[in-house]
Amino acid sequence: MRIAIFGTRKYDRQFLTQANMAYGFDLDFLDVALSPTSARLARGFDVACIFVNDIANRQVLEVLAEGGVGLVALRCAGYNNVDLVAAETLGLAVVRVPAYSPHAVSEFTIGLLLALDRKIHRAWSRVRENNFALDGLVGRNLHGRVAGVVGTGQIGGLVARALRAGFGCEVLASDPVVDEALVAIGVRYVGRDDLLREADIITLHCPLTPETRHLIDGRVLAAARPDLVLVNTSRGALIDSAALIEALKARRLGGVALDVYEQEAGIFFDDLSSEIIDDDILQRLLTFPNVLMTGHQAFLTEEALTAIAETTLESVRAYSAGEPLCHQLRYQATRPGAG
Ligand code: NAI
Repeated sequence: MRIAIFGTRKYDRQFLTQANMAYGFDLDFLDVALSPTSARLARGFDVACIFVNDIANRQVLEVLAEGGVGLVALRCAGYNNVDLVAAETLGLAVVRVPAYSPHAVSEFTIGLLLALDRKIHRAWSRVRENNFALDGLVGRNLHGRVAGVVGTGQIGGLVARALRAGFGCEVLASDPVVDEALVAIGVRYVGRDDLLREADIITLHCPLTPETRHLIDGRVLAAARPDLVLVNTSRGALIDSAALIEALKARRLGGVALDVYEQEAGIFFDDLSSEIIDDDILQRLLTFPNVLMTGHQAFLTEEALTAIAETTLESVRAYSAGEPLCHQLRYQATRPGAG
């Protein structure tokens, strides 16, 4: 099997090469993202392996299919960048990695919250300049605060557990599916509007769907608790970034920690430190002292990368053997926006 791996980063190369020792496939690592201009590079390959911000629209998939590709293997859970209808009509199979490590994302979420709330990132910059003054670094205890978890699936469930059982927060949750194990440790399920109004801390872990797009908008931010701390490690478009900036400017928010951003495609995952970035909203967000941002990094652990590489290559093996594909995406079976 010849696999063209688009948008390769150093860590992809390392973990896929390692996992491939058990398979012996022919891996071709390409730096470029999959796009209408780069799709022809997959000519002669059996598989195109792609990530969250690669483009796999009809035009691209036609080029892949014409060039002999039979399988598109997403090395991530989200698939909103793939035209599944086109893939099906072109006879292309599409697989993904539905769950690789909820621990990676939930632990990073707690890390972001603690860093933001206790101003650890700001303290580190000061100490590196031999500035050991503490003025301006006063934080707040997590213990006893009201934390609202939107979406208590694999990741949100772990976050709710850590906040409740680990830190002693009062935890409110909102999810159409109630997790009784969380209820048993004292997590309280409430309506979404109640959660958004009553929580001191809100952390987002639901998928992006038409219904959850801009779940946090100007109206919600206006009705929220003063000094709300907002954390998003799910999908950028859950938050209306322009409304977020207005709330920050009005000094209504205690802090915001973001690992995802609604216009992150074409920006995140690349070193743009010598470039001029045209995105004014992103640039404005980065100027607030109470905003902490990372570039879609929550998944990035050795365990998650190992699981992603192994699951992806196992799907390729099953495909080459003509076996049913466990993680195949079909248009009819899709639920939009998983991460
Ligand atoms: P999951 O499918 O296990 O859990 C999602 C939960 O959200 C489910 O319990 C579902 O019932 C609930 N939900 C659906 N609609 C809702 C709504 N309108 N309001 C409240 N809850 C709702 O997914 P998992 O694995 O926990 O992932 C959650 C999200 O994390 C993904 O959708 C993805 O966007 C994001 N993610 C981010 C990563 C990163 O590196 N930053 C990596 C992996 C996932």
